Amino acid sequence: MDTYVVIGNPVAHSKSPRIHARFAELTGQAMTYGRLALPVDGFAAGVDAARREGLRGANVTVPFKFDAFAYATHRSERAGLAQACNTLRFDADGVWCENTDGIGLVNDIQRNAGVALRGARVLVVGAGGAAAGVVGPLLAEGPRELLVINRTADKAVALAERHAAWAHRHATVVRGGGLDAVDGPFDVVVNGTAASLAGAAIPVPVQALRAGTLAVDMMYGPAAQPFADWARSHGAVPRDGLGMLVEQAVAAFRFWRGVEPPSAPVLAELRAEMGA
Ligand code: ATR
Repeated sequence: MDTYVVIGNPVAHSKSPRIHARFAELTGQAMTYGRLALPVDGFAAGVDAARREGLRGANVTVPFKFDAFAYATHRSERAGLAQACNTLRFDADGVWCENTDGIGLVNDIQRNAGVALRGARVLVVGAGGAAAGVVGPLLAEGPRELLVINRTADKAVALAERHAAWAHRHATVVRGGGLDAVDGPFDVVVNGTAASLAGAAIPVPVQALRAGTLAVDMMYGPAAQPFADWARSHGAVPRDGLGMLVEQAVAAFRFWRGVEPPSAPVLAELRAEMGA
């Protein structure tokens, strides 16, 4: 049996064990998937110990995505742009890291929500770890343009600048600015801020929305409700982060096992359980 874990602090709430156990069942893969909580300053030592016991791979969540990036010996280009990784694979030739958050978001938007990113105007709100993970994969789909806005404008400008060459390669443009940099409506708005966790107001100017804008929150459950209510009240179509969660897990599973599990039945099961 190959073993995998989700590493975080805290990690008890994580739905990853549930999702990957279903993927293993549905694809007939012989593997187990558990949880590993590590002390905030103990990532490398904890992972070293788990690898000595045969750990084959891991998902990595808050607050260890940057530690995981530093720990890896081989980094994908996507992980390099994000400067963070959420998936590790331990092979004989080293530690491979990937960031599947962005591809998870892209696949949820395009396959599950049925909204094309090519030629679209896309707004990303936030410039922290969550937002950084999705800008590169969104740009790779060739939107007309992508604007990153953030309460602290400098961070959005820096995030956009880091992606300028990548955007050029994908025949698109990326800009960064403060929350007031919004200029007219967008086809897709992605909320990657932690504002709702802080009980703060929605940090997105209403001009960002038009009727039918897809408004995706990277959170799910009660944390996604304020943004969804706000988006709906302005005619937009809200979407929570549960689809992104399942799709990033699909990409992680493929990175470890080389097979693609089906996302639709697992997403439907999670939604039914959560009443979402
Ligand atoms: P994560 O890993 O979840 O992205 P993070 O790196 O701490 O967490 O980033 C949190 C993001 O939410 C940032 O973009 C932050 O804005 P600042 O860079 O200005 O701090 C944003 N955020 C948090 N609380 C907010 C609030 N009340 N209003 C607006 N943005 C907020």
